Amino acid sequence: MVERRLPRWSELREVVRPRRLPGDATARRLARAATVGDLREIARRRVPRAVFDYTDGAAGAEISLRRSREAFERVEFAPRVLRDVSAVDPSTSLLGARSELPLVLAPTGFTRLMHTEGESAVGRVAERIGVPYALSTMGTTSVEALAAAAPGARRWFQLYLWRDRDASAALVERAGAAGYEALVLTVDTPVAGPRLRDVRNGFTIPPALSLRTMANAAVHPRWWVDLFTTPPLEFASLRSWGGTVAELVDRVFEPAAVLADVRTLRETWPGALVVKGILDADDARAVVDAGADAVVVSNHGGRQLDRAPTPLEQLPGVVDAVGDRAEVYLDGGILDGADIVAAVAFGARACLVGRAYLYGLMAGGERGVQRAADILTREITRTMQLLGVASVAELTPERVRLRS
Ligand SMILES: Cc1cc2nc3c(=O)[nH]c(=O)nc-3n(C[C@H](O)[C@H](O)[C@H](O)COP(=O)(O)O)c2cc1C
Repeated sequence: MVERRLPRWSELREVVRPRRLPGDATARRLARAATVGDLREIARRRVPRAVFDYTDGAAGAEISLRRSREAFERVEFAPRVLRDVSAVDPSTSLLGARSELPLVLAPTGFTRLMHTEGESAVGRVAERIGVPYALSTMGTTSVEALAAAAPGARRWFQLYLWRDRDASAALVERAGAAGYEALVLTVDTPVAGPRLRDVRNGFTIPPALSLRTMANAAVHPRWWVDLFTTPPLEFASLRSWGGTVAELVDRVFEPAAVLADVRTLRETWPGALVVKGILDADDARAVVDAGADAVVVSNHGGRQLDRAPTPLEQLPGVVDAVGDRAEVYLDGGILDGADIVAAVAFGARACLVGRAYLYGLMAGGERGVQRAADILTREITRTMQLLGVASVAELTPERVRLRS
């Protein structure tokens, strides 16, 4: 029999004292997010549905995106024990310069849609944590404004080739003049992918208040107040636009881009050249032959061709094809630092993440992006420690396998 007694008030007081996290409501909300998935849930409640869906969604039936997630779920680590992991160094070198993590913040179009602080917030976090950030051609902050907001960040510029070659060349020139160290040429977007959530939501740029969006707007007044009380939301590098993303892509982008365009860029751009959207070993070899310094194994986060190959499964073939002639990065579906550790062990030099930081941005502006970065950093270092590795050089294929 257990002996029972009456509780003492002094003991109860210790337990029931409500613990209030410091800071304002946003800080408290962010502090309670333990994972990027938690940030996603906060984001879902914070912004209008069409905005969340534009960010969270993918093309078609979203099979590519689901498969990318499933591939990371199939990862099994092979830890070693009794290794000194008291000091773990997750830094690496990307395009010849130090990066504090094997991480790049991916180019994402229309970032000020998610939160008015937009690309500047992302750039400042990149600067603080010491990783590169690629500004999108579809950005809502100009190359010059981002350079001013994050002067110490490693800034890359993502380029879509336009039908109007002179206009794309002028943009490249501006990026060079504003101190961008690398061009990231995205090659998987000859036409827009079928983003069905956007179609169903009647999503346009700039956002328009239809009867349906108005009803949803009433639930997210703060987002709309921000929209109408801050500088207008527009593409910084494109003339003003009033239509859907798909119409814009199909009107402006060059569907006739070929390998010769990569060679031309190589001849005209003095900095590093990264080609993004590679899924095939022969394509990887070809763009490296054409002068690329790095390739990104990517299906655009599942936002272009649905049922495209899964980047994690394509990675070893591309790494073999490219050898040490170019760096190989990977993206798509990364929500956890352990995903990044796994991709590096499979041969990637680094990973790009898009949605992971955008969920943070929607959840709490710059502080939310920082929270996403802190969560990923913690997960990377802890996974390395539990794996028994102290540096990214020790992340070799022996440390991972894909369960069938
Ligand atoms: C909202 C959004 C906008 C994007 N815009 C661009 C873009 O303008 N240019 C580009 O090359 N990739 C773009 N991407 C793709 C990302 O660069 C990256 O390949 C993808 O987000 C990786 O998948 P993840 O979001 O699951 O991390 C975008 C992705 C998202 C989610």
